[in-house]
Amino acid sequence: MYRSHNCGELNVSNINTEVTLAGWVQKSRDKGFMNWVDLRDRYGVTQLIFDEGRSEKSVFELAKTLGREYVIQVKGTVIEREAKNKNMTTGDIEILVSELTILNASLTPPFTIEDETDGGEDIRMKYRYLDIRRNPVKNNLLFRHKVTMEVRKYLSDLDFCEVETPYLIKSTPEGARDFVVPSRMNEGQFYALPQSPQTFKQLLMVGGMDKYFQIVKCFRDEDLRADRQPEFTQIDCEMAFVEQEDILNVFEGLTRHLLKEIKGVDVEKFPRITYDYAMKTYGNDKPDIRFGMEFGELNEFAQHKDFPVFNAAELVVGIAVPGAGIYTRKEIDGLIDWMKRPQVGASGMVYVKCNDDGTYKSSVDKFYDQQDLAHWAKITGAKVGDMIFVVSGPAHKTRTQLSALRMELAARLGLRNPGEFAPLWVVDFPLLELDEESGRYHAMHHPFTSPKPEDMALLETDPGKVRANAYDMVLNGNEIGGGSIRIHDKATQQLMFKYLGFTSEEAKEQFGFLMDAFQFGAPPHGGLAFGLDRLVAILGGQETIRDFIAFPKNNSGRDVMIDAPSKIDDTQLKELHIKLV
Ligand code: AMO
Repeated sequence: MYRSHNCGELNVSNINTEVTLAGWVQKSRDKGFMNWVDLRDRYGVTQLIFDEGRSEKSVFELAKTLGREYVIQVKGTVIEREAKNKNMTTGDIEILVSELTILNASLTPPFTIEDETDGGEDIRMKYRYLDIRRNPVKNNLLFRHKVTMEVRKYLSDLDFCEVETPYLIKSTPEGARDFVVPSRMNEGQFYALPQSPQTFKQLLMVGGMDKYFQIVKCFRDEDLRADRQPEFTQIDCEMAFVEQEDILNVFEGLTRHLLKEIKGVDVEKFPRITYDYAMKTYGNDKPDIRFGMEFGELNEFAQHKDFPVFNAAELVVGIAVPGAGIYTRKEIDGLIDWMKRPQVGASGMVYVKCNDDGTYKSSVDKFYDQQDLAHWAKITGAKVGDMIFVVSGPAHKTRTQLSALRMELAARLGLRNPGEFAPLWVVDFPLLELDEESGRYHAMHHPFTSPKPEDMALLETDPGKVRANAYDMVLNGNEIGGGSIRIHDKATQQLMFKYLGFTSEEAKEQFGFLMDAFQFGAPPHGGLAFGLDRLVAILGGQETIRDFIAFPKNNSGRDVMIDAPSKIDDTQLKELHIKLV
């Protein structure tokens, strides 16, 4: 038996008990005649004491050779500590060691394995297994486990069945590039790793599984960001014989359950807003609604005066920033420069200070009088002491720019409280999205999403206006899940591929299996997928998903610990019929 107890459980009730513990040496304090060692495992830290007077000489001497991260086993007696440590669960006791075995020595770790470490990101990723010994990383993994367990429990209780779908498949178009795997047995042919199990879960509905879920890895070759990894995990779900309302209710229920169980937070019914409303009000299809600063459209009161910039614009739009009336000229100029950076791309920004005496001072006083500015204040909801920022230009671009400012200012003003949770649904997404470069329409969600029946006719005349039965769940400004009601008949699916620019041969080649299946009694169905990494990170009060993944990739998509991707040898290449050019 390696251990009778773990390092986090002993307390005064165990005094005088003989125990065996095993773990890692966190640190030792050698006072000559007395040597204290902190022994760590996943469950906590227990203090060991080696005492020249009370321990055997050989044990006492051996303890002096212990280095950081040595793996040891000790036997000893639980005794009460003289100097208690209220910050530790085991802080009232220590172990007077009678036997010590070194199970494995350790090199000096390249960074300190403490909550606050001296190791930078790169070194910690290279030695991720050491990083995992630290509480912040370990706790994130335990937290993730707790969330997944709750998800499995909740969905299983509702009769969802977890089914595994294959990883070596044919490309599914979720909008990113595929990772591909060459086939040795089929020369010149490749599998694609799934960007999601989308088509398989639909086939499971045709197969009569009725309610499916899977906690599943997905692979997307796309540029990385804090909330994106090339391989990530989805809570993927599908249901048969459902309408959008049924799906929203089930997964709102799941999210509410998680917020309650994991965070102890009760959330009322989630607000539902349309995509159009989200864009108009927040300039963003994943609005953070923990704070206001809603957009006010000012065309009516800003145009037809003598300010040519606004007169020429498709949209003039502003936000009121609470309490920002005290910003200095320098701070305002700083914000204008921030907006002009290529990442945001605004051409300029107008400001209006809402003075304490009820008057206004703006950067465009030459063109607008106090009454005009009072209208602006009313529309943006500005109060005394606030600052209104106004931008103008093409509608979509301008909204996106103002959204960037809204998020930035909220962060600076501390309005994005990670302990507060504001989920919502965004519904009625457009079915199609115009790709400016190619001039072609793409499916905004994916090609299996059904258009709203009442918008079907628009497909011929104004495809960009067709709305889909598609929805996203948004939490604190992050898209944590998305899904749709699917097309379940061959004719509509064929039509959809046609609108997306597939020839009928291409559609048959790539998705013939799905359209064939639709001919054998496909039930109406729909579903959604949550991004588990994102969900866990946000519930954990953070937005960087890497911190909640045991072995993540860095920003260049590399695993620096195992050094992947890497070259493969010539024999392997030959077997795969691959010639590097
Ligand atoms: P979608 O593409 O919206 O939908 O993905 C679902 C959710 O997965 C998360 N996500 C990611 N998380 C981390 N890294 C990434 N690279 C990444 N990409 C996406 C997001 C997103 O909301 N098959 C459909 C679902 C459906 O229609 O049922 C799909 O995959 O949180």
